[in-house]
Amino acid sequence: MNPAPIAVALDTDDLQTAARWANAVTPQVSTLKIGLALYMRYGPSVVASVRGGSGVDVFLDLKLHDIPATVAAAARAVASLHPTYLTVHATGGAAMIRAAVEALPDTKVAGVTVLTSLADDELAAVGLAGPALDTVRRLSAYSVAAGARAIVCSPREVAAVRAEVGEDITLITPGVRPPGSGVHDQARVATPEQALADGADLLVVGRPITGAADPGAAAATLARALRRRTVTG
Ligand code: C5P
Repeated sequence: MNPAPIAVALDTDDLQTAARWANAVTPQVSTLKIGLALYMRYGPSVVASVRGGSGVDVFLDLKLHDIPATVAAAARAVASLHPTYLTVHATGGAAMIRAAVEALPDTKVAGVTVLTSLADDELAAVGLAGPALDTVRRLSAYSVAAGARAIVCSPREVAAVRAEVGEDITLITPGVRPPGSGVHDQARVATPEQALADGADLLVVGRPITGAADPGAAAATLARALRRRTVTG
């Protein structure tokens, strides 16, 4: 059975908890997302700890943003971990994105366009005036032109970004909520089925799985629903 296109966000700063979640969900999902809290606390060895003996894809969500030489060095430093995805901030510029891409030829460098935590007034304050969707589209096209092979965007933006970047780019969407699960602090959510229908390739799901009494069962239920959708079109 193919794993479902889900990246489980291992959002905890406790290694044992992360490894337990990873072990529970790995047969069901394609990808594990390791974010800054885990990586900053435990360093590169966290990848082997959560991957275990499985061949699950690893998404290193480190959101790099620095001068090109520094980003290239940081990207080279994680090459031996063989991440399938590594995030960089698109606003770091084309040379910075290209530096990461060239340092990690076997990894899909993913451009993070606009953080969904930024409201319109804050976007204007940091120099990104105008409708957020326009900025997301512009930064998506710009990231891809610089070599990024994936884009992180909200489910609400995914159709517009797909139209902008074409079929070959992997679109990764957080803010996904199965029907009946809590919204938490996500303001703009979509169901997993809707996000896929709109063009997403990989759904980032955290608390609906990791906050469940049985994360393995929650992942299995979601994976089944997505497989059904794939089968029925
Ligand atoms: O628990 P939840 O499903 O909301 O987790 C979503 C994950 O996606 C978290 O790791 C969060 O940091 C990340 N994320 C997000 N919104 C973005 C970018 C990343 O929620 N725009």
